[in-house]
Amino acid sequence: MAVDDDRDVVLRVENVDLGYGSLQVVFGVSLSVRRGELVGLVGGNGSGKSTILRAVSGMIHPMGGRIVFNGEPVGELAPHRMAQKGLAHVPMGRQLFPNLSVQENLLLGAYLPHLRKGREEVLGKVYGLFPDLERIAGQMAGALSGGQQQMLAIGRALMLSPVMLIMDEPSLGLSPRYVKDVMRAIRSVADTGLPVLLVEQNIKQVLQVSDRAYVLENGRLVLEGGSAELQGHPLIRKAYLGL
Ligand SMILES: Nc1ncnc2c1ncn2[C@@H]1O[C@H](COP(=O)(O)OP(=O)(O)OP(=O)(O)O)[C@@H](O)[C@H]1O
Ligand SMILES: [Mg+2]
Repeated sequence: MAVDDDRDVVLRVENVDLGYGSLQVVFGVSLSVRRGELVGLVGGNGSGKSTILRAVSGMIHPMGGRIVFNGEPVGELAPHRMAQKGLAHVPMGRQLFPNLSVQENLLLGAYLPHLRKGREEVLGKVYGLFPDLERIAGQMAGALSGGQQQMLAIGRALMLSPVMLIMDEPSLGLSPRYVKDVMRAIRSVADTGLPVLLVEQNIKQVLQVSDRAYVLENGRLVLEGGSAELQGHPLIRKAYLGL
C-alpha cells in the first residue's frame, strides 16, 4: 500500500480472530477505514458483524491479530479509553433517554469532561448537519418516530466530536422511508470528513451510500471492494439482492 494511503488510515483491523470465551466466531478478518470514507460491513444474521464492532470499541479483545486506531495498537483498551481516543459507537437499539428532550439528549452526548465547555458550539454544528433535529429540539425523545430517534442517536454520537463513528444496524426496525433518510444522514456525516464504519444486514441500502464495503459470511470475509463495483458483482446480485 502507498505511503499516502497509510497516513489516511484511521482504523485498521489486521487479521483478527474474535470470540466469546473459548468460542471463536470471527476468523482472520482484515479491514480498514480511511479519513472521509463511509465503509460498509455487511452480512447475514450471526455472521460476526457486531462482534467486530465490539472489538473495535474495546468491549471484547482479539484472540489473535491487531486493531490499530490512528496509528496506535488499541486491541487491549477498554471502551471508555476508546471513547477518549475519539471512537464513537452508535449501538444497536439507540439507548436514548426517552423522558428527556432531543436537545437534552444531545447535550448529554458530550459527557466527557473535556467536552463540556465547547458543547453549545458542537450542538450548533449538529443542528447545522441535521436541521430536522433543531426543529424538534424540545420534544421528548420517547415520542419521536423511529427514524428521528436514529437521527438523534447519531447526533448524540457526534456531540463527542469523534475521530470516527461506528454504527450497528441503524436501519433496524425502521420503515423503508426512514431507512433512506437515515442512510442519507449517515452519508452527510461522512461527507463532513468523518470516517464511518457502518454495519448492516441491509446490503442494498449500504451499497447505495458507502464508498467501499466488506461482505462477511460465517465470521469470514468473502468479498470486498468499491460499493459501485459490488452492486454489480454476481455473488451480491444473486445471494443478497435477489436478482
Ligand atoms: N455474548 C455472546 N456470547 C456468545 N456468543 C455470542 C455472543 N454474542 C454473539 N455471539 C455469537 O457470535 C456469532 C456472531 O454474532 P454477531 O452478533 O457478531 O453477529 P451479527 O453479524 O452482528 O448478527 P446480526 O445481524 O444478527 O446482528 C453468532 O454465532 C452469535 O451467536
Ligand atoms: Mg449484530
